[in-house]
Parts: sequence; structure tokens; C-alpha cells
Amino acid sequence: MTKTAIITGANKGIGLAVAEKLIQNNYQVLLACRSTKKGLMAEKYLGPSSKFLELDLADPESINLFVEKINADYSNLDILYNNAGLIYRNFELTTEGYESMMAVNYFGSYRLSLMLLENLIRNSGRIVQISSLSMYLARKLVLDNIHYEKSFSPSSRYNLTNLYRSMFAVELENRLINLPVSVSVAHPGITKSRQSRPHEVKRIKKSFYTYFSTNIATGVAPIIKAIEDTDVQLNRVYAPKIFGFYGKPATMKHNKIVYNKELRESLWSYTAKELNLDL
Ligand SMILES: NC(=O)c1ccc[n+]([C@@H]2O[C@H](COP(=O)([O-])OP(=O)(O)OC[C@H]3O[C@@H](n4cnc5c(N)ncnc54)[C@H](OP(=O)(O)O)[C@@H]3O)[C@@H](O)[C@H]2O)c1
Repeated sequence: MTKTAIITGANKGIGLAVAEKLIQNNYQVLLACRSTKKGLMAEKYLGPSSKFLELDLADPESINLFVEKINADYSNLDILYNNAGLIYRNFELTTEGYESMMAVNYFGSYRLSLMLLENLIRNSGRIVQISSLSMYLARKLVLDNIHYEKSFSPSSRYNLTNLYRSMFAVELENRLINLPVSVSVAHPGITKSRQSRPHEVKRIKKSFYTYFSTNIATGVAPIIKAIEDTDVQLNRVYAPKIFGFYGKPATMKHNKIVYNKELRESLWSYTAKELNLDL
């Protein structure tokens, strides 16, 4: 039977490559993208098993409209893959006054997951959260002054959002343990996501990362495993087997901060209060 999956940020990169793979595996894929033009181009590229729906994770109104539409038209949701994310070089605030990288990479996943939970529970579905090797570079959980420019640096903020993503997903899976819904986390290593940009110039600016980043198939494989594994590995992250960079998918430990229940609960309370949204 065809399954239905939402992928956020599915118009290019890893999101688009995962969409292609899921369609091959007989899924209907809902492409949740902020740009109508790019979303429609991805829909055309992927064919009739895909459907573009507008979603800007930096805009709460857009999230509300998206969830309304999903619950009205797709009561049969099997997978929510929280993929969208970015590194902003400069400090920017959303209309709500949140630092933009935090808003998109983390608050967006939290909101969407909680708001679509009933739909997923009805279908014994799964939430799949993207994270990154960069979560291991975060040395502590920071919850103060997140939305102030003074505390912002692009790379350390990106590391922190990935630590948050992992902590959120592990806390969510623990909170939902007795319900018919599962949660998994995956990271792609460091992969050439530009290989999946059919509508953009693929010119690659050589950087430190381009020398050892992997073919995109290596990065996508653990995500597909996190989506399709019949027996989800709790409290672990799906990733390429060798040092989290190379090889077939395996599971490994998160940053050790993720296993600190008290810190996970602090992050949860902080987020629930900021967004006025809890289970
Ligand atoms: N590539 C890697 O090696 C790597 C490693 C670790 C983790 N990751 C994570 O994997 C995910 C995908 O990475 P990628 O390399 O494929 O990146 P990418 O090619 O830049 O794609 C990012 C996607 O997120 C979308 N997006 C950005 N802001 C959004 C918003 N406000 N609302 C909705 N969608 C939004 C983008 O849309 P637009 O096209 O409109 O900007 C794009 O579709 C990210 O979360 C990243 O943190 C990647």
C-alpha cells in the first residue's frame, strides 16, 4: 500500500534526494517548501507521486495553514521527515523575534511535530528528525540570550541547533513511548547535497569540506533507514557507519549531553514556553 510522507525543504539537496528515493519505494511525497516556484519545479521533476505544499518554517502563520491543509486533505500521514535547515551567516530575526537559524532548524521541527502528532498517531506513523555531526561540537546546552545578536556566531549556533534537534527527538521518543508512533534521528555525515539541485547551478566553491564530503547517496542512506527501519533504534542516531562519514548506514550514540534527562527536560520546558505549545 502507498504510504504518505511529508518532507520539509524538499526542493533541493538531501530533501529532494530523499523524496526521489521514497517515490521509488512507492511513497506519495508531500513537498513542504517555502518557495512556490522552487516547490513546483521539484514537483514537476519528481512526477505524479509528489505534491508541493507551501510551508515557511520561519513563519508561524504558514505553519498553521500547512497543518490545517494536511489534516483536512491527508488524514493518512505515515512519515514526517523534518529535513529543512540552514546556516545563516548573518544574525536575522523572524517576525516573531526569534533568531532565524534557531527558528527554522529547531523551533520549526518542534512545532510541526507536535501539531501533526494526532494525525501520525492515528496511522502508527513516524517522525524522522535530521541532525548533524556538528551536534558533537556543541559543548553545553545554552538557553540564555538565544535571540540576541551579541550571543550569535554562525557555526556555534548551527552546532547548537543540531544539539537541540537531537535532544528534542530523543525527549519526544521517550515521551511517546507508549503511543502508536515512533521517532528516529539521522545525520548524513558530510555529503555533497549540491549533487541534488536539478534547477540550480551546481558550481561548487571549493572549501575544506569539499575534499572529504561524500557522494550524496551515502548521506541519504541512513535517512532512508531511519524512515523505513521496522525496529527503530531508540536513543541512537542513524548515520554512515565509519566515523559517521563513510560506508553503509549504522546507528551510533548522540553527543553525551543528549542523554542527560534533566537537560533534555530543560530544553523541552524552555521550548514549550517560548512557543506556547506542549504535548
Ligand atoms: N549537507 C550536509 O552534509 C548536511 C550535514 C548534516 C546535516 N545536514 C542537514 O540536512 C538538512 C538538508 O541539508 P542540505 O545540505 O540538503 O541543505 P540545502 O540543500 O541547503 O537544502 C535546505 C532546504 O531547506 C529549505 N529551507 C530553508 N529555510 C526554510 C524555511 N524557512 N522553511 C522551509 N524550508 C526551508 C531550503 O529551501 P530554499 O531552497 O527555499 O532555501 C531547502 O529546500 C539541513 O537541515 C542540514 O542542517 C546537512
